[in-house]
Amino acid sequence: MIEEYKKIIEANLEKYFDEKLQNPEYKLFKNVIDSMKYTTCLGGKRLRAILCLEACKIFSRQYETAIPCACALEMLHAQSLIHDDLPCMDNDDLRRGKPSNHRVYGEAVATLAGDALISFAPQIIIEKTPKTVEPEKIVKLLYEYFIAAGAFGIVGGQTADIEAENLNEKISIDHLQFIHKYKTGALFKCSLLLGAIIGGANDDKLNIMRKFGDKFGLAFQIKDDILDFTSTTEIMGKTVGKDENSNKSTYVTIFGLEESYKKLTNTIEECYDILNSNGLKSDVLIKIIDSLK
Ligand code: IPE
Ligand code: IPE
Ligand code: MG
Ligand code: MG
Ligand code: MG
Repeated sequence: MIEEYKKIIEANLEKYFDEKLQNPEYKLFKNVIDSMKYTTCLGGKRLRAILCLEACKIFSRQYETAIPCACALEMLHAQSLIHDDLPCMDNDDLRRGKPSNHRVYGEAVATLAGDALISFAPQIIIEKTPKTVEPEKIVKLLYEYFIAAGAFGIVGGQTADIEAENLNEKISIDHLQFIHKYKTGALFKCSLLLGAIIGGANDDKLNIMRKFGDKFGLAFQIKDDILDFTSTTEIMGKTVGKDENSNKSTYVTIFGLEESYKKLTNTIEECYDILNSNGLKSDVLIKIIDSLK
């Protein structure tokens, strides 16, 4: 199922960008659309899209109506990566095994491409979601999208992340969890919510997805922090060892490797607990949690 989801996402992302690229009206700014497509279509695990499609399937036994939302989430994710890699942020030359966006298109176009992806994503949701989906659902899910994309989501988290660099003292675990909740958790939570809203989940179920999204996002970022320390640039397709070199506040730089693994294991257990105690059965969700071990 995960492979099927991935294929559908890749195909639709290509299609959405190519439709715009082929329009002669846009030829004078084609470069920014190319730049948007470059990072978005460069591969990646597509986890946010998969979570969105699966959440839709859990509540409606189909995932097709959530395809535009799933693609939009990958666009927003790509935006966060493009801006995260800029010299004024994490300054990384490599992303998904290829030169990062600003290394190919320059800083100005990369910045603009990121900006443009934030608004192209909801544009696609509105343009491409089947008309059978009630407008109330679209408004409800766009609200969640805007929270995740802006100051009260990724932007806020990235600000707190950058401000936690080069400090003389280690930050508290609450402070660190706050950073991870916003810079990474917000988009995972949003991915589950968008799928669940399209799938018709009621408010109680949406709250369960919120809880799961927060927990999964934290587990995911703890693992990312660990991999920055233990993996290789070749495997990750991005420069590893950067967190320590840039004096970042991460699980590994604050708690060390062994303690980070313990905290990861506990957080993974909490993810399973949320699914089990709420009777949410999904092989896809289980597989994705398992992949963080
Ligand atoms: C990278 O996310 C950014 C973080 C939140 C750590 P992923 O590890 O999901 O990146 P891709 O999509 O697979 O490239
Ligand atoms: C990423 O955190 C959070 C984003 C919003 C992109 P990182 O800075 O750790 O992500 P990587 O390791 O560069 O992918
Ligand atoms: Mg970063
Ligand atoms: Mg980074
Ligand atoms: Mg990282």
